[in-house]
Amino acid sequence: MDYDLISDLHTDANQDFSLDIVPSSKMVICNGDVNDDLLETMEFVGRLCSRYEIVLFNLGNHDIRLNWNGTIPEAYQFLHDHPLRQPGKRKGVMYPLMPDTAYKFEDTWFVGSIGWYDFKGAEPHMNAEGAYKLWQDHVNEAKSINWDGNRPDFYAEQEVHALCDVIDGLDGRVVVSTHTVPLLDLTWSSLDPDSHGFVGSVVNTGMKRVIDRHGKKIAAWNCGHTHYRFDKTIDGIRYVNNARGLVKSGQADSWKIQNINLDEDRWACFR
Ligand SMILES: [Fe+2]
Ligand SMILES: [Fe+2]
Repeated sequence: MDYDLISDLHTDANQDFSLDIVPSSKMVICNGDVNDDLLETMEFVGRLCSRYEIVLFNLGNHDIRLNWNGTIPEAYQFLHDHPLRQPGKRKGVMYPLMPDTAYKFEDTWFVGSIGWYDFKGAEPHMNAEGAYKLWQDHVNEAKSINWDGNRPDFYAEQEVHALCDVIDGLDGRVVVSTHTVPLLDLTWSSLDPDSHGFVGSVVNTGMKRVIDRHGKKIAAWNCGHTHYRFDKTIDGIRYVNNARGLVKSGQADSWKIQNINLDEDRWACFR
């Protein structure tokens, strides 16, 4: 079992990007932040479906900023009902990552959702309320996403529960994909103390509960969002962020599609 992993292509900000994607697997996980415009994002996911048999697609916080007025649950429903889920003339089909949903391919379960953030990643430098205010004042999506009267930490907590519950019912190896980061240790906060406030809107610290409860089942956890790539194994779980990020910030340099092979020896314990 293997899959290609891509994330944070930001095809609106990065005008250089075209779909020069050469698959090295029949499956790809596209882990959010394709474009700020949901219609553009879905057009890209459609193009992935012409290259891959299985396209696991996760929304990012950016994908629902433009051309989408609905709420966050309605965005998941939009994916659930989307024509790309049906077989067509394309090579493959989209499988949307969303709460309460698991897909099994070969011997592995795939689950995930946006993940959101709970602002607690800023502690102890700044309390969660301070990080929330910082986000509200400085981050565009505070106004451009339809929060339906809730805060991101509300959805963050909902998605922790949904992930715990869905993995409860699964036997065998699980791969989790969230757009946001599941562990504070995987951010830059220790490197750059000046930006600790914004770490609040990067991590959902509640995901640690999913890891504590289900860590033995989880072989890999993919994320994106930070534009800070890593491939790091902690307590037997391989955490991979393959965000391309922004060309103008130099983040996209040397980016390439990453193939994750779950059948390497280090994961023999999951077989
Ligand atoms: Fe991003
Ligand atoms: Fe993001």
